[in-house]
Formats: sequence, C-alpha cells, structure tokens
Amino acid sequence: MKVVFLAPSYPPEMQQYTRGLAEVGAEVYGVGDTAPAQLPASLRPYLADYLQVPRLLDEDDVVAKVSAWLRGREVDRVLANWEVMVLTAARLRERFGLPGMSVDTVLGFRDKQLMKERVQRAGLRTPRSERVRTVTEARAAAERIGYPLILKPISGAGSADTYKISDAAELETVLGRMRHVSVASCEEYISGEEFTFDTVCMGGVPAFMNVAQYLPPPLVARSEEWVSPVIITVRDLEQPKLARGIELGRGVLKALGMGDGFTHMEWFRKPDGEVVFGEIGCRPGGAHLVDQMNYTCDIDLFREWARVVCHGRFEAPTTRKYNAAVIFKRALGRGRITRIEGLVDFMRSYGDHVVEERLLRPGTHRRNWKHTLVSDGYILLRHPDWDTTARMAAAAATQVTLYAE
Ligand SMILES: Nc1ncnc2c1ncn2[C@@H]1O[C@H](COP(=O)(O)OP(=O)(O)OP(=O)(O)O)[C@@H](O)[C@H]1O
Ligand SMILES: [Mg+2]
Repeated sequence: MKVVFLAPSYPPEMQQYTRGLAEVGAEVYGVGDTAPAQLPASLRPYLADYLQVPRLLDEDDVVAKVSAWLRGREVDRVLANWEVMVLTAARLRERFGLPGMSVDTVLGFRDKQLMKERVQRAGLRTPRSERVRTVTEARAAAERIGYPLILKPISGAGSADTYKISDAAELETVLGRMRHVSVASCEEYISGEEFTFDTVCMGGVPAFMNVAQYLPPPLVARSEEWVSPVIITVRDLEQPKLARGIELGRGVLKALGMGDGFTHMEWFRKPDGEVVFGEIGCRPGGAHLVDQMNYTCDIDLFREWARVVCHGRFEAPTTRKYNAAVIFKRALGRGRITRIEGLVDFMRSYGDHVVEERLLRPGTHRRNWKHTLVSDGYILLRHPDWDTTARMAAAAATQVTLYAE
C-alpha cells in the first residue's frame, strides 16, 4: 500500500498519523513545506519518500508538483488529516483516479454554508443562516435572521473572526472589523451546551465514536483570556442526554456522504433538549482531542485510523473506560512564565489521575492564546466517574495558576 500523506510533520500530531500509517504497513510518501533536513529525526523512519513544496496552501501548485513527482509511480491513497489540506487531497485523488471522497463531497465538510444546506436538506436541524459577501447583504440577512446572531467566516477555524452580535449597532462595529473576510455566514445564535461528535468511519459508518463536552462553549473560551478551557470526553455514550446528538451525528455523516476516516463534529444541546448541528470536518479534532480519545479507551487511534483507511479494518477495543479531561492554562501577565502556583498541591490531591502535565515551565515565553487553544500548556486527567472527572478539571482550572512578566 503506497500512501501520499499531505503535511506529515506539521501540525505536530500529524507525525503520529504518519507513524500509524507506517505501522500498518503503508509506504508513506510525505508532502510538506518543511525542508527535508528540518524533519524531526523521529519521523524519518516512517517516511518512504518526501517532497518539499514551496507553498503547501497553494492548491494548484501542490497538485502540479505532486503529479510531476509521482509520474511513473503508482500510489493507492492520497490522505490528509489537517483541515487546510483535505480539499487538496481530494483533488489529487480525482486526478489520479483513486478511491476516497471526491472534491464535491469534501466541499460539504469545508464550506460552512454548503454544509448546512446539505444537512438541512436531510431534515436535520441547523441554525438558520445565510451566506453574505457584502455589508449590505449582511445587514439584510441580519434583518431576516434577527438578534442575537453569529457572524463568522465561511471557512473559519479556531473561532477566528467569530462574533456574537446583539443588535444593529454592534453589527456595524463587527462589520468594520471583518472587512478582510470575503465571505461570511450570518446565523441564528443557538444558546446551549456544546459537544463534539467524533468518529473514525468506514464507508460513512462509525467504527469508533466519541462525544466530548466543551466547558465553556468555544466562543467564550476563545474570547475570555482568564478562562481555562476544559474539554472532557464522555465515557457513557448510552446516557439519554446524548442520544439525540449521536443520532444527529450519524445523520450528518449520511447527509454529507462521508467515506473513510476521521470526522469531528460540533453540536449544541439547548436547555429544552433540542439538538442543533454546529459544524463538521472530515479530519480529526485538534488540541489533543485524539490523545483524549486514546486515553478514554486505552487505544491508539493514530494507528487504527491508518488501518481503516488502508485496509478497511478497525481492530482496537471500543470499550470506554474513562472520562478524559484536558484543561488548558493561560498565564496571568505577558512575556515569560515566572512561576506556577498550586501545581504541587493539585498533584498531591489528584496526581494519580493525571496522565499528562505539560504546563510551560518558568523561563519559557508565553504562547499566543488566540492562536492556539493549547495556550500555555495543559493538564490531561481521567477518571471512570463523570462528576469526579469534572470536579478535578474544575480544580485544575481554578487552583493552578501560571504567572508571566
Ligand atoms: N450559530 C451559532 N450559535 C451559537 N454559537 C455559535 C454559532 N456558531 C458558532 N458559534 C460559537 O462559535 C464557535 C466557533 O464557531 P465554529 O465552530 O463554527 O467555527 P470554527 O472557527 O471553525 O471553530 P473551531 O475551529 O474553534 O472549532 C462555536 O464553537 C460556538 O461556540
Ligand atoms: Mg468549531
């Protein structure tokens, strides 16, 4: 099995998928913009060959360069697990006549308006929304949709340029800030709890499934620096509270024509129990969500994903043993981390349940919390009982404090 894998070294977790592919027997042909000499030594044994391209996000150029590179060589798959590369992978598959999702199918996972239209057409509940290209269109859409509303880029990520807008005056302010966004989605604001629905699919049917809860909703976590965002995988997927969300998730996969591979969906649960679709990608969730899912079941999804996409088999046990919580921390102050308070006490109380502690150490420069959810590091912990997990996560969020200056 010869596999072209786009972006095998960056973001860093892509190295794990590269390893997984090699471990199930694939010859991995990596394509990235990192210079070969800069590839991590730990990654090299997993790559059969590597092509450096000058601009990974220039789709036409990547398609041309990969085509030239592969001339005379047969490959079996072209894959990508990084959101910005999934369409390029589909274009290459079409070009080489390889199995896997088409450009049109993948577009349903990339274009938030098209996505919602397809999901809606299947009779599933989405926020009312309109695609807007100009200030005039945005004002007109806002009149129809009503306040509060959400304005966000059509192909956004990381809640960048995503705004909750309460009235017409605020809309004008936000439109001023969004001038660099060429196409936006104007939508009904859904108030409720936010969850993920994650899968590894075979022919659109989940071989593995996960739900995680965001605490608080991502938009709040990404707008308020003082918040320590928490994400907890839910051990018990059978509980009635999640049934409609999981049903929605399965329906969305069908509506969008999912094939093989990871999906990462977000959905809302309103106080009255109604569930509403948020968005979905045909790639894994970022910010250590795959690690969390692995800790939930004690499995290696990096490798199982590879087995699914290469050989059509998922072999790991799917028994859920833990709720796994990640707590992202943001230091108080700017510059370099100077000290961490409360960590020793926290570890004394809960250390037995902590599986990873990766907080930035004193002397390290702070990360940009707007750019990376991981922020100034994280604690990952797990417990079989939900309430205990949530309580420990809250303790990590409130009792551990990083300072910077
Ligand atoms: N219609 C909506 N109603 C309420 N909240 C919304 C709505 N759309 C987006 N949000 C909030 O904004 C966040 C970011 O929106 P969305 O997930 O669509 O964009 P994104 O930038 O792709 O997100 P990310 O990359 O962080 O997952 C959501 O998680 C949610 O908290
Ligand atoms: Mg999102």
